[in-house]
Amino acid sequence: MSNSSFSVSEIRTHFPILNQNINDLPLVYLDNAATTQKPLAVVNAVADYYLNDNANVHRAGHQLSNRATRAFEAVRSSVKTFINAKSSKEIIWTKGTTEGLNLLTNVLAKQLKAGDQVIISTLEHHANIVPWQMLVQSVGIVLKVIPLTSNNSLDLAAYKQLLNKKTKLVSITHISNALGIINPIKEMIKLAHQVDAQVIIDGAQAVAHLTVDVQDLDCDYYLFSGHKMFAPTGVGVLYGKQHLLETLPPWQGGGEMIKSVSFTEVAYNDLPFKFEAGTPNIAGVIGLGAAIDFINSYSRQELQKQEQSLLNFTEKALLEIPEITVFAQGVEKSGALSFSVKGEHPTDIAILLDAQGIAVRSGSHCAMPLIRELNCNGTVRVSLSIYNTLEEVQAFINALKNIIEMLKE
Ligand code: ALA
Repeated sequence: MSNSSFSVSEIRTHFPILNQNINDLPLVYLDNAATTQKPLAVVNAVADYYLNDNANVHRAGHQLSNRATRAFEAVRSSVKTFINAKSSKEIIWTKGTTEGLNLLTNVLAKQLKAGDQVIISTLEHHANIVPWQMLVQSVGIVLKVIPLTSNNSLDLAAYKQLLNKKTKLVSITHISNALGIINPIKEMIKLAHQVDAQVIIDGAQAVAHLTVDVQDLDCDYYLFSGHKMFAPTGVGVLYGKQHLLETLPPWQGGGEMIKSVSFTEVAYNDLPFKFEAGTPNIAGVIGLGAAIDFINSYSRQELQKQEQSLLNFTEKALLEIPEITVFAQGVEKSGALSFSVKGEHPTDIAILLDAQGIAVRSGSHCAMPLIRELNCNGTVRVSLSIYNTLEEVQAFINALKNIIEMLKE
């Protein structure tokens, strides 16, 4: 049921960590693309699990194990609904998006051969570059990169040119972690399917900001991390279309992913367990369930509207400062934006902001090829969440203006 009395101040009561001073000034947390803060409901759900139900899942018939297994599997079902997957069998637990991408590249490698083409984009995080580079080395795939247009969005005309019969996979981010750009993935997925290529979407930055419907998108795989949507670190989801996951071999061997084992034979378990070797992050999954319940207790539309208007305000305010360049100005963004200050190193700006209690990220944001393309030495990234206020953004803008003046002296 959605909470009709939606207000940012009400939301903030769920995040006590925000009520602290840094250097005698109120903390302004604008590094949500790196990780979000955790609401009490998530912290309590994890504590409750350890205090009352802690046991391994799917491995014993005793009461604690039954309770833990029921709670754990109920979250799989919540995730299925949250992203509108067809079946819970399509929801595989991972440590996070990075592990999901490594899982996929490892198992897809068995279906690829030298000369097969994989398309990624200039906006990718290292986690969606390096695992493919490993397949360039081990399999001989050819990696193609969608370039940017002059406003730093993806060049769709170039993308169409790259797609051909040799394209087996397209692996792109839903939202750029470094620049906040929302990619037109639905259209890109449709184009990839026209040449029979499968599409992997890195949803790490999108899942907390947009409503994700994997059936509507028609993506073949979608990955995200719990910790960017108010859940604990170390838990994530790999969604895959069931018929595709069925054709893939397992990645890691161990407990839970087998039906039977002898010293000469092994029969693998059914989905989703085939991909879940070893004891999973049970508390993390329980926390993810609480995070989904927390998000669902509000109107997602209202959350998105509030966050979007704050992002638009931030961009506008930054653009009024003459020394500032906002990257991907005017391009549709969500959750984050990046900027540089003329003549200043981004890390110096971030350190000076931190001295005033304002947490932002600076540098290359695990997207070095993009930063090279932008021809800069990094950016300062501001990333928002549902608990950020207009006052916080104003404090950030004022601090930034003072820093720029001070650096001129
Ligand atoms: N991928 C995370 C970020 O963009 C850590 O900050």
